[in-house]
Amino acid sequence: MIRYDRKLKIFALNGKSYTYMFRITDKGVLQHLYFGKRLGVFDARSATDLGFEWSHTYLDCDSAERNYSDNYYNDKSLAEVASHGLMDKSGAAFVIEKNGATATEFIYKSHRIYDGKPKLKTMPCAHADEAQTLELTLDDRFGGARLILSYTVIKNSDVLLRNSLVQNVGATDIVLKRAYSTELDLPQSGDDFIHFYGDWCLERFLERAPLINGRVEISSNFGRSSHEHNPFGILCDRHTTERAGEAFAFSLVYSGNFTLSAYVDKWRRTRVLMGINDEDFDYLLPPRAEFEAPEGVTVYSDGGLDGISHAMHDFVRDNIITYKNAKAARPVLFNSWEGCYLDFDTQSILEYIDSAKKTGAELFVLDDGWFGKRDTDQASLGDWYVNARKIDLRRIIDKCHALGMKFGIWFEPEMINPDSDLYRRHADFALGDRDKERTLSRHQLVIDTSRDDVIDVLFDMMSGILDEYEIDYVKWDHNRNIGEIAGATAYGETYHKIILGTYKLLDRLQGKYPDILFEGCASGGGRFDLGMLYYCPQIWTSDETDPVQRLFIQYGTSYGYPPSCMGAHISKNKIMSYTDKGRIALFGTYGIEMNPCTLDDGQIAEVLEINRIYKEYHNDVIANGDFYRLCSPFEGNYAAMMSVSKDKSKAVVLFANLLKENNRYRFIKLAGLDERKRYKNTLDGRVYDGAYYMQVGINLSVWLDEFTTYLIILEEC
Ligand code: DGJ
Repeated sequence: MIRYDRKLKIFALNGKSYTYMFRITDKGVLQHLYFGKRLGVFDARSATDLGFEWSHTYLDCDSAERNYSDNYYNDKSLAEVASHGLMDKSGAAFVIEKNGATATEFIYKSHRIYDGKPKLKTMPCAHADEAQTLELTLDDRFGGARLILSYTVIKNSDVLLRNSLVQNVGATDIVLKRAYSTELDLPQSGDDFIHFYGDWCLERFLERAPLINGRVEISSNFGRSSHEHNPFGILCDRHTTERAGEAFAFSLVYSGNFTLSAYVDKWRRTRVLMGINDEDFDYLLPPRAEFEAPEGVTVYSDGGLDGISHAMHDFVRDNIITYKNAKAARPVLFNSWEGCYLDFDTQSILEYIDSAKKTGAELFVLDDGWFGKRDTDQASLGDWYVNARKIDLRRIIDKCHALGMKFGIWFEPEMINPDSDLYRRHADFALGDRDKERTLSRHQLVIDTSRDDVIDVLFDMMSGILDEYEIDYVKWDHNRNIGEIAGATAYGETYHKIILGTYKLLDRLQGKYPDILFEGCASGGGRFDLGMLYYCPQIWTSDETDPVQRLFIQYGTSYGYPPSCMGAHISKNKIMSYTDKGRIALFGTYGIEMNPCTLDDGQIAEVLEINRIYKEYHNDVIANGDFYRLCSPFEGNYAAMMSVSKDKSKAVVLFANLLKENNRYRFIKLAGLDERKRYKNTLDGRVYDGAYYMQVGINLSVWLDEFTTYLIILEEC
């Protein structure tokens, strides 16, 4: 997978369908050569020729420079680790201050290639059974810093991982002003940038726009990966479609502030940079200290956006998620939140459980409101003990078990209400300057999880509950953005260190309770990223359960994340029938969230029919199969998507009509089937070849009301 040509000093990294090459120049600088479709023949000589022609033309203009044999020193060269503060002004991944100066240039010292993939010490990262890693050691020629840069190629995958460890090998302090994870130079511009922006209840809406001459950037400085921008983006050829064309995608195994930018410079080279947002980042490294950057994820596809999504979906399922039962069918989940919010008692929850059972639920989740004195959202975050005056948790859990249901519970460990026992005991746990007025959001402050003593207290309180009660599932919420940082840690390190603290707490809890299924959540989908997915195989996608909005949200989310990790529930929302809402929720982890006592027999029958489909098809086809987007709601009046089992024997297709629009031909061409297999479909009950479904399509030119859906199941026969 990884080769080194000693003579030409070229590294070639070969993934499933990509080749990635860079070389060591005469000056010892790493020069990027190629990232694209896998090269059949490793033609090192022609690869080294890239750029030399430009170089000569340029150098001839200035005879004084003609002697340079190394075109790296022009700003035209493709860089692998760009210098900062020298000739290249397109942005560097590392900006390091030492003795008051920031010129930084890393020079090759040594390398090694080995089988496997190392773990990070402080953060989640990918794991892979079969992988190869190239580790390079580089020293800053301006002194002080050493960079251990490594690349991991995963067998049979189009994901390339990049890791950076900066060490202070000098005798005086250095300061990391910036330490990004990914840097990629592409010798072209003219690409489109696809990214996923949003807000609360509007997460991961798709935007595709041309790159400009200059910088295009998405970022978060909200202290979490955020609703506003997801840490995932795609660069693709202007002509790339879902099924064809070249595309490159970028992500980060991280849940805090991030930035992803693409800079088209005067030579029309595009430089992509991704990493921890350097706004409010200033990291002091005393001698012998080191800093680990989050793992950078780069994906290649020469099969359109589908190729990106398939690589990301497999990567998330196989190489990110660590929950041991992630590939098994997940229980049908019932959540109490939208049914009663904080307004419940033992009796009403027991009634919920009885009624939830009738809907086929297998896991009952008691959301916010069971702890401290939590009757409103103004109090008790931090008081992780049962509110015995409000509920009898033992009775509730026993009831679930008696009915053959599992039980799950809600926590928001990283937050504190000023009106809480925890705050009264430990006001210093909250971030911010206590002498100034602090901005509350949802009446809460953020806990300083950068402190180990704080993590100990949270761990003990949460373990108290998890030890005493039989709990199968934890919903891990996070309901505000972070600001006015002031705490135990230096300002420029706090944002990063509080995320590391959250990971520590998750590590400790999951080490102790490996059977518990954790679901991530952050005011809906405000922390939907690879860092959280490492711990939580599913994340609540959005607080928006309106099924039409959900089509957009789930469609946008599907570019970077598989349906198996998108929390999706049937709710009480009136805009569609329970059947239609259920079909949309099936393209996620699937659950139910409402007051179940209000459902009539007809509605229960609708939900039970969705459960039947879930049981029969979801795990093989939707959760662990290949997902295809067929019609984008962002482009028209329909949304259509489908999943195909890995063995291509079964498929589930969802079609949704938004506004009433009839008298139209509607042939929906399917994707991902085996051309030669014959499939029977549940729309017209007929049998056609895979090729027919994909070339002619299924005919939905029928009368359709607004907000109607079709769920079509195909089975090989
Ligand atoms: C925000 C989440 O997104 C909701 O599902 C719910 O858990 C509330 N928090 C509870 O406060």
